[in-house]
Amino acid sequence: MKLFLDSAFKNEIPIMADRGILDGVTTNPSLIAKTSGSNYVDVVSGIARQIEECKLDIPLSIEIFESDYSKMTDQAIKFISEINYENLNIKVPIGWDELYVIKSLKSKSIRVNTTCIFSLSQAHLALDAGSDFISIFFCRLSDSGGNPEEVCYELRNIIEKTNSNSQIIAGSIRTPLDVERALTSGAHICTTALNVYEKSSKHILTTQSVDGFMNDFKAWIK
Ligand code: E4P
Repeated sequence: MKLFLDSAFKNEIPIMADRGILDGVTTNPSLIAKTSGSNYVDVVSGIARQIEECKLDIPLSIEIFESDYSKMTDQAIKFISEINYENLNIKVPIGWDELYVIKSLKSKSIRVNTTCIFSLSQAHLALDAGSDFISIFFCRLSDSGGNPEEVCYELRNIIEKTNSNSQIIAGSIRTPLDVERALTSGAHICTTALNVYEKSSKHILTTQSVDGFMNDFKAWIK
């Protein structure tokens, strides 16, 4: 499973990149709004340049925020042009009219990350529309009583059976246990915050084992 950083803070990119675990970056309007920036394109361009400084060619997903679907394609094309990042992916929330946008962007060879997915039927529409990435919101779905693992597992089966190149992103991931849920339910990619990955690296028994080894060794080497 690939690991994407879910963040709009460009300083977090080298922290994961320098550990060799950064396979992509995802953003959303709420994450952008947490930054001190005031211009959407400037903030995302800063993220793109930081990725390039890390000498990585990895997917960067940014979300269109036009509410009128007839203007979404133009906004996406504007972002592609102004941000000028080769592996830029446009996040389009799933929806009946948004399917027009997905088709339009794909016809222009623009990569699409169809997001805000909460059901297998939504995911199947996104798949059929040719989405490059399909983002299932794990915790938001389980918070509402849904079963994101089942949606993910079934979607992965469909992708394998149809030899599709679409990749499942498990988003809305809050804890290391959620990362494991994404891993075991067949997601191709997990995207979450930096601190979740840091927590995933730790275990009390690891700390105890290492401390024990060091204490024994220090006693012997005296
Ligand atoms: C991923 O691209 C999503 O935008 C993100 O993971 C949503 O996470 P949240 O449910 O914590 O807002």
